[in-house]
Amino acid sequence: MLRTKIAVFVSGGGTNLQALLDAQKRGEIPSGEIALVLASNDSAYALTRAADNGVKSVVVKRKEFPSQEVYEQKMKEVLEENAIEMIVLAGFMSLLSEDFTLAYPKRIVNIHPSLIPSFCGKGFYGLHVHEAALAYGVKVTGATVHYVNEIPDGGEIILQKAVDVLEGDTPEVLQRRVMEQAEWVILPKAVEMVAQKLQKGN
Ligand code: GAR
Repeated sequence: MLRTKIAVFVSGGGTNLQALLDAQKRGEIPSGEIALVLASNDSAYALTRAADNGVKSVVVKRKEFPSQEVYEQKMKEVLEENAIEMIVLAGFMSLLSEDFTLAYPKRIVNIHPSLIPSFCGKGFYGLHVHEAALAYGVKVTGATVHYVNEIPDGGEIILQKAVDVLEGDTPEVLQRRVMEQAEWVILPKAVEMVAQKLQKGN
């Protein structure tokens, strides 16, 4: 059976992309193939990770297009040219409209660094999520992989994993623990689950 062709959308360091590439190398994503990395800016270190692993990459910057519609049209063309069937948002910080998400129903997944429905939605991204968790004083946080629909961080949950908050944690320390113990573990698993489902539908 053909493997589901996956594009990973990134904006920054790309440690989640790295987790996917490593899992692929270990044979843990047998139903999918990471075929493309799409970055929202050309300084994303994720682009170096793609190059080091022989994965094709492309940069599509919002500010180079006159409107969200034209920007998304460009991304759709790139996806089509590369026969992409599934999208993984792995630290992708550019917003996607309802029009875009509706075009790929149950084909876009996102990794979010909290246990949804806590600390999610508008304004909750990256380190801000961990700052909010520490400010609230939760003792357990974690990560969530979910389908992307028109509601920010509101799509169906695929996998979650809890992580302890420890005395003296800073946002940076907590972020690192959530990545190591949860994000890099559940993202490859969820990607294989979804890639397998899409493969069956081929
Ligand atoms: C990750 O912690 C990811 O969960 C978060 O951004 C970081 C990206 O790191 N995503 C969000 O906050 C989405 N709302 P990475 O570039 O090293 O994978």
